[in-house]
Amino acid sequence: MRWPLLFLVLYLLALADGQLEFSPESTELDTGGLSRDSFPKDFIYGTATSAYQVEGAAHQDGRGDSIWDVFLRQPGLEVNNASGEVTVDQYHRYKEDIDLMAKLNFDAYRFSISWSRIFPNGTGKVNWKGVAYYDRLINYMLQKGMFINYLTFVSPFCITPYANLNHYDLPQALQERYNGWLGRQVVKDFADYADFCFKMYGDRVKNWFTFNEPRVVAALGYDNGYFAPSRCSQPYGNCTAGDSGTEPYVAAHNLILCHASAVQRYREKYQKSQKGRIGILLDFVWYEPLTRGKSDEYAAQRARDFHLGWFLHPIVYGEYPKTMQNIVKDRLPKFTKEEVNIVKGSADVIGINQYTAFYMQHVTVNKSMPPGYQNDWQVGFVYEKNGVPIGPKAYSYWLYEVPWGLYKAIMYVKERYGNPTMILAENGMDQPGNVTIPDGLKDTQRVNYYRSYIQQLKKTVDEGANVIGYFAWSLLDNFEWRLGYTSRFGITFVDFKTLKRTPKMSAYWFQKMLSRKH
Ligand SMILES: *[C@@H]1O[C@H](CO)[C@@H](O)[C@H](O)[C@H]1NC(C)=O
Ligand SMILES: *[C@@H]1O[C@H](CO)[C@@H](O)[C@H](O)[C@H]1NC(C)=O
Ligand SMILES: *[C@@H]1O[C@H](CO)[C@@H](O)[C@H](O)[C@H]1NC(C)=O
Ligand SMILES: *[C@@H]1O[C@H](CO)[C@@H](O)[C@H](O)[C@H]1NC(C)=O
Ligand SMILES: *[C@@H]1O[C@H](CO)[C@@H](O)[C@H](O)[C@H]1NC(C)=O
Repeated sequence: MRWPLLFLVLYLLALADGQLEFSPESTELDTGGLSRDSFPKDFIYGTATSAYQVEGAAHQDGRGDSIWDVFLRQPGLEVNNASGEVTVDQYHRYKEDIDLMAKLNFDAYRFSISWSRIFPNGTGKVNWKGVAYYDRLINYMLQKGMFINYLTFVSPFCITPYANLNHYDLPQALQERYNGWLGRQVVKDFADYADFCFKMYGDRVKNWFTFNEPRVVAALGYDNGYFAPSRCSQPYGNCTAGDSGTEPYVAAHNLILCHASAVQRYREKYQKSQKGRIGILLDFVWYEPLTRGKSDEYAAQRARDFHLGWFLHPIVYGEYPKTMQNIVKDRLPKFTKEEVNIVKGSADVIGINQYTAFYMQHVTVNKSMPPGYQNDWQVGFVYEKNGVPIGPKAYSYWLYEVPWGLYKAIMYVKERYGNPTMILAENGMDQPGNVTIPDGLKDTQRVNYYRSYIQQLKKTVDEGANVIGYFAWSLLDNFEWRLGYTSRFGITFVDFKTLKRTPKMSAYWFQKMLSRKH
């Protein structure tokens, strides 16, 4: 008699814990016809974060500095002198965060591994306390299903780990040793680090990415210097050193070789026994020609080549896009025959991070400007047409809500790159950091954003695009690079003083849309 009673009490407690603050019938949670049935049966839904943005514990358990720790230590550089030293402290609160993912019905979590937490000096001595952290994180994700099953009798499931090896945060030691991504030695050092992660975690992690947004690393790190390591030349930015005309291309070339070398290690040593999949995460803005004139069409195509093609073209076809070769000429490095062999075909899956779209127009090159990556595009960015903005704005200056841009971006990858296996690996929008509870929880604009973008994603799948998953950015409000804590991308509100997490309306929207009960 007592056991059934105990189960009943536990069951009711579990139900109460999952109680919606918003009624599922509420029109604000309208899923717009979306449900788990909208996509193929094994379609994966998750949320994404990155190590520097959520972990905190920057000086704990032997972690070494990354280039972002050092970059943000410049007084007065970052808004409110913010940094990721504590951020949302996932290093200590990962269980609470994974519990939340399970409660919201997500299937997967994309996190990144901090290279300098594993190898504080970039290479050499292993920091075993850092290694142990990712073991705890991964193991807890995989146990999650059993726990839920025991309490609530729903069918067993777990949070599937999607591990990314690098999200902007290069160990500072390597920056000092050989200028980081500019030094060819980084290719071997990255492959060794990747190899170590496959060996340590590959028995449980079956989904790997080498890099998140290497284009952002190369462009913002070396063309305008807005991101670490902040190298550039005049007039493209105010840096102490750099060359905007050459360094972005050298950094990107080494990033591609790092990626390819890591994939080669995985395929040769681990893939057969571990049976996983490896790929890369690329950011892609949809570039729509401002007018139907030929010159704007070409401008938009150049933009797509310089943005996505810079990385995806070598990975699929073994060379940089012809537009880039013609414009950048001998400032663009070349792949040797041996390099082409490891670069071409070096992804089982392509992650596309897609948030927004811009209009593109042709501009005449100013021949007296010194060379620079962005300048090489020979385009003008336009955000409205006939006085009508391309879409409603989020908080970030670059983020317009343009759901049809996602549709066009995915269909473009499908058509131009042979319909590779794709994951929509980041998508979301931000609110200003100063919103508070309860107003900040009613993120109606974000609900609309997710609904309309996922409807467009469904359309691409219905039309044959090989998209196998979707990840929202982000699970939580967190540290947003150059905006610090003044931008909130989370579906969960974080009080940055107490670090208390409170799901927003958009979190409940996902919970409802991803419900497994019919
Ligand atoms: C940031 O740090 C600089 C240098 O310590 C200081 O002058 C400035 O007031 C700080 N800014 C804020 C918003 O705290
Ligand atoms: C870091 O690595 C470099 C290069 O291998 C080495 O010279 C240096 O002694 C190492 N530093 C520490 C603290 O291990
Ligand atoms: C460089 O600094 C000067 C002076 O502060 C400023 O006017 C200019 O806009 C800056 N240039 C860039 C590209 O940030
Ligand atoms: C072309 O670039 C040079 C060098 O930056 C600058 O001085 C000049 O004003 C530019 N001309 C035009 C038409 O923008
Ligand atoms: C919050 O920030 C936004 C954008 O920076 C500003 O327009 C608004 O006035 C601020 N609101 C409050 C309550 O401070």
